[in-house]
Amino acid sequence: MAGELKIRVNDQVRTVTAAPDTPLLYVLSNELELQGPRFGCGLGQCGSCSVLVNGVETRSCVTPVSAVQGKSVTTLEGLPAWYAAQKKLHQAPALHPVQQALIDEQAVQCGYCFNGMIVKASELLSKNPQPTDAQIRTAMNGHLCRCGTYPRVLKAIQRASRMMAGVA
Ligand code: FES
Ligand code: FES
Repeated sequence: MAGELKIRVNDQVRTVTAAPDTPLLYVLSNELELQGPRFGCGLGQCGSCSVLVNGVETRSCVTPVSAVQGKSVTTLEGLPAWYAAQKKLHQAPALHPVQQALIDEQAVQCGYCFNGMIVKASELLSKNPQPTDAQIRTAMNGHLCRCGTYPRVLKAIQRASRMMAGVA
């Protein structure tokens, strides 16, 4: 039954009216008009709907909105500010380094999968700033790209890692 829930999204407390078991993805898209998380499979299997919940990549299509009460949700839209907070920067960059690296590597094709990929890669680099190729492949394994951009995504994450270390 629909009521009122307060959830923290991109560092703002938002009031939503969806029923507690409504998928978080629907609330983000339909009530909060955030287009970062995208509907792909709806089954938790493709990664296009990924968001961070307390810094952990989470499939919003299979997460009830009630499960994120009292937690902090970050969508693609909030990633630069999330990164700035982590790095204690005075100002958020226009783009998270992963986003910039994807542009620099011309990695994107149709782009549908990329919002979730960016969220996952950001989580990876926050925990492991200098991942090996194998660690990147393992981390990104659950993110499906119909366009087959995987080799360019790998290069972009390597580049983002160097950018964050100040050597690119
Ligand atoms: S839409 Fe959520 S994992 Fe595919
Ligand atoms: S770039 Fe098209 S699905 Fe990944």
